[in-house]
Amino acid sequence: MIDITKYLENFSLDKGNSLFYEKVKTRIEYYQYNNQSIPKYINEYWTAKQRQSNPIHEISYRACFKAQLPRFFIELLTNENDIVYDPFSGRGTTALEAALLNRRFIANDINPLSEILLKPRVQPPTLNEIAKRLNSL
Ligand SMILES: C[S@@+](CC[C@H](N)C(=O)[O-])C[C@H]1O[C@@H](n2cnc3c(N)ncnc32)[C@H](O)[C@@H]1O
Repeated sequence: MIDITKYLENFSLDKGNSLFYEKVKTRIEYYQYNNQSIPKYINEYWTAKQRQSNPIHEISYRACFKAQLPRFFIELLTNENDIVYDPFSGRGTTALEAALLNRRFIANDINPLSEILLKPRVQPPTLNEIAKRLNSL
């Protein structure tokens, strides 16, 4: 597993193209709180390129976040087959992204709609099941 402090300290953003290229290093500012020095890491960690995500996420849900946000932390902090847990799953962005990255997941939410939105995308029904359901309707 990665040391997140070292990752943030050593991160530099590759910006621009072949003509105008620069490496933007992380800037660190320190705040004093209760005799402790708290670092604040300043850089662009979540770039426009990273914000492009799998279209399977595109279901509207209140206050959902972009899939690349959980992807950033899942890639940083877990390995394949690890379990990712989201107790406030919503439309299932984190769970779905975990599945796309070959992680196992646990997701729950007080809203029963959450399971309805996530389940068919991680366990799609077979054509037979769909036909059966349509016939029953
Ligand atoms: C901001 S949404 C999460 C959206 C999610 N990150 C996504 O991208 O789809 C917060 C979720 O927390 C759920 N929630 C609120 N209180 C809860 C509770 N006590 N237990 C479980 N879920 C809860 C809400 O139903 C809602 O779906």
